[in-house]
Amino acid sequence: MAELREFVDILRAAGEITRLRLLSLLAAGELSVKDLTEILDQSQPRVSRHLRLLTESGLVSRHAEGAWAFFRLSDEANAAVLVQHLLEQLDASDPVLQADVLRLEAVRRDHQMRAATYFSKVARDWDRVRSLHAPESAVEAAIVDMMKGTSVEMFIDLGTGTGRMLELLDGHFKKGVGIDSSREMISVARSKFERSGQKSVFVRLGDIAQLDEYSASADITMLHQVLHHFLDPGKALLNARQTLKPGGKIVVVDFMPHKLEFLREEQAHKRLGLSHEQMQAWAQAAHLKVTDAREIPHNKPGGGLTVCIWHLTDQS
Ligand SMILES: C[S@@+](CC[C@H](N)C(=O)[O-])C[C@H]1O[C@@H](n2cnc3c(N)ncnc32)[C@H](O)[C@@H]1O
Repeated sequence: MAELREFVDILRAAGEITRLRLLSLLAAGELSVKDLTEILDQSQPRVSRHLRLLTESGLVSRHAEGAWAFFRLSDEANAAVLVQHLLEQLDASDPVLQADVLRLEAVRRDHQMRAATYFSKVARDWDRVRSLHAPESAVEAAIVDMMKGTSVEMFIDLGTGTGRMLELLDGHFKKGVGIDSSREMISVARSKFERSGQKSVFVRLGDIAQLDEYSASADITMLHQVLHHFLDPGKALLNARQTLKPGGKIVVVDFMPHKLEFLREEQAHKRLGLSHEQMQAWAQAAHLKVTDAREIPHNKPGGGLTVCIWHLTDQS
């Protein structure tokens, strides 16, 4: 419950056209200042000023990552209810809002295209590129250790790339499905499994945003070094959760927050690592509970990337 003055401040923050447009855009997921500037076609200082007012009022939360800042609607209950109520009063057919949605879709398509171009370029060489990232053998040993004694019917590896996780965890599942949106990655993975003759493994071209055909089918779904390629990892996690049987588990393996800005340009990273707090919030929003988290520190002198393995269990 907000006090009178505080409530008026919140209403003032929301009561302006650009800020309402921003709230409406952020209702579709987390976005960076850069994206919002492009969508609204206004100067960055102007958009930043509006975002600052929204953040100060508690309607929006900000997360800084290197040179980028990401914004999302606040998770705080009062703010979330108020924003939802305000947005419900807006006419979605308003031409300004419709144009915003079209530009948002164009921005997302552009991100996807850039990532797809990168992955199609590196597909043949991916197993070498991925080993540059982190203490690969330590990470893989920890993944296997955390899966010790686990044997499931169905394992899904989202963003499977060359299918390394299906190879590594063979023996822990009766059926394994690797899904990836890059034709090149899928073709490398497919020929690898054809050669090895692993009959319980299938790889499929598919998008994490469209997993209907895999609904409620997996005991374990994995996202290994995938979420940092998403502008809104929380949304990807929500999509991944759809694949789980009741009580199933998502295993996320990804980087902890870091400052290696060049990875955005050179390796199509959208997020500079994921923090425990973020994971907690995304998990909660997807009705998942963080049931385990293990950090594997880098072993490179002069700095490297720490990897974390999170287990998120379905609470439905
Ligand atoms: C960094 S690679 C990781 C590959 C593999 N999991 C590994 O660790 O070797 C990220 C993979 O996610 C895939 N990917 C990115 N966006 C995707 C999406 N929306 N749907 C499915 N796969 C996606 C890319 O094509 C790429 O193969």
